[in-house]
Amino acid sequence: MTMPSHVRVVEVGARDGLQNEKTLLPVAIKIELIDRLSATGLRTIEATSFVSPKWVPQLADAAEVFAGIAKKPGVSYPVLVPNEQGYERARAVGAMEIAVFTAASEAFNRRNINASIDESIARFEPVLARAKADGVAVRGYVSTVLGCPYQGEVPLADVVRVAKRLHDLGCHEISLGDTIGVGTPGKARAMLKAVASEVPMAALAVHFHDTYGQALANILACLEEGVGVIDSAVSGTGGCPYAQGASGNVASEDVVYMLHGLGVRTGIDLDRLIDTGAWLAQQLHKDTASRVTRARTGG
Ligand code: HMG
Ligand code: MG
Repeated sequence: MTMPSHVRVVEVGARDGLQNEKTLLPVAIKIELIDRLSATGLRTIEATSFVSPKWVPQLADAAEVFAGIAKKPGVSYPVLVPNEQGYERARAVGAMEIAVFTAASEAFNRRNINASIDESIARFEPVLARAKADGVAVRGYVSTVLGCPYQGEVPLADVVRVAKRLHDLGCHEISLGDTIGVGTPGKARAMLKAVASEVPMAALAVHFHDTYGQALANILACLEEGVGVIDSAVSGTGGCPYAQGASGNVASEDVVYMLHGLGVRTGIDLDRLIDTGAWLAQQLHKDTASRVTRARTGG
């Protein structure tokens, strides 16, 4: 067992969380969310997404949100970018870290970004070249690593190939996404192991949606394999609007509670995170999906 002593939690609630919520939050509330999150000790907070506003109207205000957040020294605020147009919009407001995204499944990619895997990577190439010249760090997402809503099974070899390609192209970190939350711990572990045979474990992150209630178990299996970066969303919000049946990300509060219980350091103040999760649920007029926040707030 190679459990890390410290884990970096990548908070994706303001992006993955809000992109799939029915309630459209005002810009000021999104900014307050991100500023509250940066006060919890989180070091990486995905802020928004510069995709087509026709495809994801929830994040059409990306530029205003990004411009309005109080950038805390030592905290990075990556933003999603699907193409050069997104890159230009992100750079216009000063983004210094971006995330590109593709999938291990052709069928999902077609629905999500209207492109094949190869076409999506061809779109990223100029983005990565410009990012390198501009000193912008790039994260890469691989979706549907444990199953696809349209294709079903996703061969491990496809996950490994796409992850390696993104890493070879210059992505400093590859986040492996179980987009529809169908994975189970044995499969999650085998998937991570297979990718880690081609991409260094230090460059890998895991990204679980909790559709089938397996996310924490999957994360534990991956921690035991040595992964040191975990994506999660405060209050367990979100999901991908173009992945049929996808539900929220694993809740950050639940991940941090588990990590601290395991003696793994995160640098995050759990109480502040719980307050933020409870506050966000109120803003969205829904119950929190975090079991920890429910337990602590009686909600
Ligand atoms: P398209 O329709 O094929 O693109 O969409 P296009 O190049 O033909 O452009 C169509 C229109 O969009 C044009 O406008 C463009 O200007 C505009 P029009 O001429 O019709 O007025 N456009 C843009 N506008 C603003 N910003 C841009 C941009 N690009 C084009 N960047 C495209 C292709 C990729 C743009 C579209 O499919 C898209 O935006 N998809 C995003 C879908 C999405 O955001 N999904 C959720 C994120 S992925 C996810 O959640 C998974 C993850 O969490 C990991 C996991 O869980 O597995 C990361
Ligand atoms: Mg996701």
